[in-house]
Amino acid sequence: MVSIAVNKSRENVAMLGIGAYRPQRLVSNEEVCEVLDSTPEWIFERTGVRNRRWISGDETLQSIAAAAGERAIVNSGIDRSKIGTLILATSSWLTLTPHGAPKVAHDLGMNGIAAFDLTSGCGGFGYGLGVAADLIRAGSSEYVLLIGAETMTVGLDPTDRGTAMIFGDGAGAVVVGPSADNGISPTVWGSDGKNASAIEQDVDFLEYMQKAQTMQGTDPAVEPIGRMSLRMEGPRVFRWAAVTLPRALSTALEVSGVCKEDIEVFIPHQANARINDLMKKNLGLADDIPVANDIENTGNTSAASIPLAMEEMLVTGKAKGGQTALLLGFGAGLSYAGQVVTLPPAPDEPSF
Ligand code: COA
Repeated sequence: MVSIAVNKSRENVAMLGIGAYRPQRLVSNEEVCEVLDSTPEWIFERTGVRNRRWISGDETLQSIAAAAGERAIVNSGIDRSKIGTLILATSSWLTLTPHGAPKVAHDLGMNGIAAFDLTSGCGGFGYGLGVAADLIRAGSSEYVLLIGAETMTVGLDPTDRGTAMIFGDGAGAVVVGPSADNGISPTVWGSDGKNASAIEQDVDFLEYMQKAQTMQGTDPAVEPIGRMSLRMEGPRVFRWAAVTLPRALSTALEVSGVCKEDIEVFIPHQANARINDLMKKNLGLADDIPVANDIENTGNTSAASIPLAMEEMLVTGKAKGGQTALLLGFGAGLSYAGQVVTLPPAPDEPSF
């Protein structure tokens, strides 16, 4: 039998640099309520959101992903020629073919590297961080650029009371690579397809095309087909989160070998400020542990929310590079992924 070579593996990996991009246009609750049957006060009280960013002008998912990636590379100080893989965690890239990562790699002057999209809803960054760390540990790449980027507004129905007030656009990225001490724990992840319909597109691509074809040449009075939009049964997701996420957080601590007293920062996905406060309380984290609250002015940016929130905390000094943080992403699938990590240094090139 022939002997097939294996990669030289390594154990210790960490996030070496972070970068983010926040779209120019700030959209207030007041503006959202111009078309949504809601009030600015209700939105803030029930979700924690005051403002969100929406892309405008030349901004696209590709451009904001590349902008965040560029900042992460510069802030990490790693020569981009050493980056072997780009992972684009997103659920809002608009074509299945081609996927986004190769185009973003090209924009970043890294044409030719391994590049793939990873779709796991709002859990996408956590999934991506696990995959990035394991690629490096297995020796498949020395450095990985992980970008979480979303333009949630492309699938947003501005009149839908379940989603319109929550979601925003944005991108965050980290360079992951080898380090002297380990800075990324094993990933705790899972999914619940039984409850997948709690967050879903209202029609799939085939149904949409069939509807569009059926309408061709029909009576012009027939109401035109609307957009394909995201729907969420918020209270159902909330109930799932209340049961599933505390267990995931406890397991993340257990597998990391770090006790809750050692956690200095908590950065959960920015889905709802009330869920995040509840998780902190249930886990028994000390009152003075800073909890990410980027949702207030950035909204829920799905796979981009954790790196955006991490960057905001590092830039404002709420958290410091080298601190031990607990991360947890969760959402469509329904799925979740979390880790205990060492925070990367505060960025020299911030997003605001
Ligand atoms: N504006 C004003 N009122 C609204 C509203 C809106 N956008 N949406 C619902 N309401 C009203 C309802 O009609 C209901 O009124 P009633 O009590 O008179 O019947 C009341 O507010 C409560 O409705 P409910 O649907 O139970 O709201 P909620 O408190 O659960 O908040 C979410 C809705 C979406 C903010 C919340 O469920 C949530 O954040 N869920 C989790 C989302 C999540 O984690 N997603 C995963 C990642 S994306």
